[in-house]
Amino acid sequence: MEVGGRADSSAIIVNSFDMVLSFARAMDLLHPAVSEHHLRVAYVSACIAEEIGLSDAEVQDILVAAAMHDVAAACAPQTRPLLDRALDSDAAGDIGSDLHDHGLECSRMLAGFAPFARAARVIRFHHVDWNHGAGRYFDECRVPLESHILRLADRVAVLPPAGEPALVHAKDIRASIRSRAGDHFHPHLVDAFEQVSARESFWLDLASKHKEALLKERFGGGALRLDGDNLHALAKVFAAIVDYRSAYTAAHSSGVAKASELLASRAGLPSPRVRLVGVAGYLHDLGKLAVPPELLEKPGKLTDDEMLLIRQHPYYTQQILSAVPGLEDVTAWAALHHERLDGTGYPFRELQIPFEARIVAVADIFTALTEDRPYRAGMKKEECMDVLYKMARDGAIDGEVVSLLQGDEFGNPSGIAAPERINGLFPLTA
Ligand SMILES: [Fe+2]
Ligand SMILES: [Fe+2]
Ligand SMILES: [Fe+2]
Repeated sequence: MEVGGRADSSAIIVNSFDMVLSFARAMDLLHPAVSEHHLRVAYVSACIAEEIGLSDAEVQDILVAAAMHDVAAACAPQTRPLLDRALDSDAAGDIGSDLHDHGLECSRMLAGFAPFARAARVIRFHHVDWNHGAGRYFDECRVPLESHILRLADRVAVLPPAGEPALVHAKDIRASIRSRAGDHFHPHLVDAFEQVSARESFWLDLASKHKEALLKERFGGGALRLDGDNLHALAKVFAAIVDYRSAYTAAHSSGVAKASELLASRAGLPSPRVRLVGVAGYLHDLGKLAVPPELLEKPGKLTDDEMLLIRQHPYYTQQILSAVPGLEDVTAWAALHHERLDGTGYPFRELQIPFEARIVAVADIFTALTEDRPYRAGMKKEECMDVLYKMARDGAIDGEVVSLLQGDEFGNPSGIAAPERINGLFPLTA
């Protein structure tokens, strides 16, 4: 992989649209049946929003909401059956009383990032039926119109049978949506859907494999541009979603981010760069979104094949983040966290490892070792330092970075006793 890129990371500007779409693509790797679900819903929602004359800012909000709407259902193994039901094209109406929980959970996750507050609210109610106007309210809260757009778009996205051209089914899908106007869907939104879906190109776009480019071209103009502070805040939200996937890694990414920032500031890096190293820490395990949750949660030892699957995750971290222009340095620092200086790491077997990536690698190991595990308490710092110095002596990690860990305030960097599954074969992975 190409390492490094931008010299002046302090002036970083990243497009929120690129971040969210690459995250949506990552989530769609999660589940075979999801097959571009988030990107499809984003496309249909944005078309309807534009058709009814929503402002550019409102279209942006709905794109973010659509691109993230099922994240809570997709990420937690216990809610996967619910997602399966929700993604079933035949599931017409009520598919369970717990249906609204994942919207609420997801809205809580996103609410931590102020620019996405409106999108979070839209997500919260994305399964509320119009119910002849009663759906203006839910749980004594006013339901945004955009939630009803998402409700409709979500169904349109799942109706084309897998593997068949959507255009062939356009007539049936339009009839199915029309038959539920007033009951499940807001009638005016059904009218708008009929307008946009009268074009063959709508269905061809829906089936296109180049949806990120297509969405960006059509709707990317008003996207929010993130400076270092906002990027840091958004990375923290993404990290919380990654960590949410497994009770065993409940605070791992945030622990690695904090440890990385402490190491970077001790190394004397300027503060904007320290913050970016923190972003790399937050995002280092993003590729785990592509690892089946059954593997992350599997009790006991993993098989060799399962281990290979888990070890793909830095590759996916790189794939996901490399779609975000401006994030080249951070991508390298995050994706190289399992590389070793002597070439014994994975998956790139990279030997040219930037200093910031060495920091994230040491922070990752330190955090993993000091976190509590289901079968043991986290290692004491002295014990952990012995392990790290041995690895440094063996030529695997940077001894200079390890020595930066010395000092009183470097206890358990996460400050949270997060249980994390570990297995005999791969004790330092995180
Ligand atoms: Fe949903
Ligand atoms: Fe959905
Ligand atoms: Fe990792």
